[in-house]
Amino acid sequence: MTGALGQIGAELVPALRECYGADRVVASDVRMPPAGLDREGPLECLDCTHTRQIEAVVRRHEIVRIYHLAALLSAVAESKPRLAWDVNMGGMYRVLEVARSHRCSVFHPSSIGAFGPTTPRDCTPQDAIQRPTTMYGITKVAGELLSDYYVSRFGVDTRGLRLPGLVSYCAPPGGGTTDYAVDMFVHAVRHRHYTCYLRADTWLDLMYMPDAVRAMIELMEVDRDRLVHHNAFNVTAMSATPAMLAAEIQRHVPGFEVDFEVDPVRQAIADSWPDSLDDSAARAEWGWLPRYDLPAMTADMLDKLKARSQPAE
Ligand SMILES: NC(=O)c1ccc[n+]([C@@H]2O[C@H](COP(=O)([O-])OP(=O)(O)OC[C@H]3O[C@@H](n4cnc5c(N)ncnc54)[C@H](O)[C@@H]3O)[C@@H](O)[C@H]2O)c1
Repeated sequence: MTGALGQIGAELVPALRECYGADRVVASDVRMPPAGLDREGPLECLDCTHTRQIEAVVRRHEIVRIYHLAALLSAVAESKPRLAWDVNMGGMYRVLEVARSHRCSVFHPSSIGAFGPTTPRDCTPQDAIQRPTTMYGITKVAGELLSDYYVSRFGVDTRGLRLPGLVSYCAPPGGGTTDYAVDMFVHAVRHRHYTCYLRADTWLDLMYMPDAVRAMIELMEVDRDRLVHHNAFNVTAMSATPAMLAAEIQRHVPGFEVDFEVDPVRQAIADSWPDSLDDSAARAEWGWLPRYDLPAMTADMLDKLKARSQPAE
């Protein structure tokens, strides 16, 4: 896995190790974890923009499947568009090339950011117009197309999901537009107050990380012949506004207050994305079904965050 120390990798690595065995899942990232962090399996330092580094790890560990997670997320990519192009596109192309020559399958997460302001906003179909206005979105659409190209041109088994904003408690989010959702939970538990950078009525799709991890594993395990789309499956679990999330948290944390100071950059990104996705292709082709809706996710997130904030015995 590339980018394994990020928000998704922090939970996907342990889940894959549980499925396949700790020593059969190689985590890698361009940065190294803080000293003292438990290493429960192989860990490599790998910059995904360097073919030789990817190739060396693939050879050394006889890799058969690459989960390519390394990327710059939407808000970070807007502040560093050139680096975002280099990492998101350069990494994607190199991973696909190594996968082609070493016969690996590839998982690649796309995003709701691959859509744009001219995409139908409500119940956005699987196959819809994609004219994103952010560097992140541009790299995500190009990554989807490149993945499809490697399927049809070279027969590389690449698969992917268009993920919505992910909510999790293990690792902090990496600079996306939907980070507010995680931040709101953390602030509710720690401070009972949160200042949200998106407007209260901004609709966006969200998903709890356990659902996302299961989706990534299930998609890669399904029989290839069942897939019509291969890449960029719309998946979602809920569509919600910051106001709705705040109200749900308030049911568990009385006195929790939220105010709003809109960040124009992230609001503009959010406004260019769909309000809700149609994930019927994922449901039909490989049986996708989310388990956590807004109330279930909220209850579990708060339980887990409260447990983490208790001093260890
Ligand atoms: N988290 C979400 O809500 C979300 C939603 C939709 C799609 N995605 C996609 O999922 C993937 C992973 O997201 P995440 O939230 O875990 O991101 P993150 O920012 O938390 O983690 C990304 C990791 O990539 C690493 N990285 C950066 N440059 C690298 C390089 N050159 N070589 C190797 N590693 C490098 C970083 O050190 C970081 O640990 C990304 O492609 C992202 O676009 C995430």
